[in-house]
Amino acid sequence: MPSNILHMIKNDLLLRALKGEVVERPPVWMMRQAGRYLPEFIEIRKKYDFFTRCQTPELASEITVQPIRRYGMDAAILFSDILVIPQAMNIEVLMKPDFGPFIPNPIRNAKDLEKVVVPDVNESLDYVFDAIKMTKEILNNDIPLIGFAGSPWTILCYIVQGQGSKTFDKAKEFCFKNPILAHELLSKITVTTIAYLKQKVNAGVDVLQIFDSWGGLLSPTDYSEFSWQYINQIIEELKDFAPVVVFGKGCWFALNEMSKSNASALGVDWTITARNARYLSGGNITLQGNLDPSRLLSSKSKIKDLVNNMINDFGKDRYIVNLGHGILPNIPLENVEVFINTVKEYKA
Ligand code: CP3
Repeated sequence: MPSNILHMIKNDLLLRALKGEVVERPPVWMMRQAGRYLPEFIEIRKKYDFFTRCQTPELASEITVQPIRRYGMDAAILFSDILVIPQAMNIEVLMKPDFGPFIPNPIRNAKDLEKVVVPDVNESLDYVFDAIKMTKEILNNDIPLIGFAGSPWTILCYIVQGQGSKTFDKAKEFCFKNPILAHELLSKITVTTIAYLKQKVNAGVDVLQIFDSWGGLLSPTDYSEFSWQYINQIIEELKDFAPVVVFGKGCWFALNEMSKSNASALGVDWTITARNARYLSGGNITLQGNLDPSRLLSSKSKIKDLVNNMINDFGKDRYIVNLGHGILPNIPLENVEVFINTVKEYKA
């Protein structure tokens, strides 16, 4: 049994919202909250490169709790990256400053695919589990800890394209020209991700989130084939271990299919109204989102209004306040405070 089940989390708003329970107010956290808008994060970044920060439990746990110390969100998300999975699968992944992820030898054919392994996650990703244990000690059961992984499709995007892209044209070309190879690769990523997330729960995370950052690039039919079926396999394997949240950027067209799964919540971006998201997802499942991250550049009074309206539109129950995607690096610190505090002060 995961050790965290034996302990009560003092602020369990997120866990209750995920179960669909009635709450005093919705919980709030921000995607990419452990990151570049924080001066204390930038200090650490000056001294250690990206994957050193991910691989050193003392650094990863410190970065994870930095936003909590400053703002008191209702959940922490482990500082790490979705690309530690391909690294563990024997694919070299570099993080180039001011460029982003770079894969020197992208996967393009059967020969490339042969070198991709399904690793023993306890060996290759032990540093993540150590970071979780250390973070859980620092958090002292005050709030839940979220662990995450990329969707198999989103991971495929990076390891086939070789770098970030607006269209991921090479990734799509690979899938559409070699669907058998693509499904072999997606299956390997899925098996690895399931083992990885199970061990994350064993190490102490309370909630899991799958980031499908590039699902919205696919047509509804291709989404079912190349992304959703693998996410659904992950949900089925993990649902009895921890609640699973699925965030699909641009994936509003799949909300109905997603809402019929055993996911505990669905994340939505800012291009959909609360009303339409509720309608498409059938009205019962917990939703998470969806302020446009750039809206944190508005005036403080405007941010307050937007947050209050957003809670009224989604409803305070079965709802988790978040941004519609990760926080941007150029957001003023005081505006983040207004975003978080408006939720904490919310009265129905
Ligand atoms: O949410 C959190 O605060 C936890 C930490 C977190 C990071 N990456 C740290 C990070 C999480 C949840 C991720 C997930 C991730 N990583 C995604 C899915 C979420 C999304 O934004 O769509 C993706 C696509 C990646 C891959 C990735 N990592 C990219 C494209 C980049 C470069 C561009 C960018 O956003 O900076 C990264 C680097 C990265 N991962 C940074 C951080 C804080 C910034 C670089 C640095 O710290 O040096």
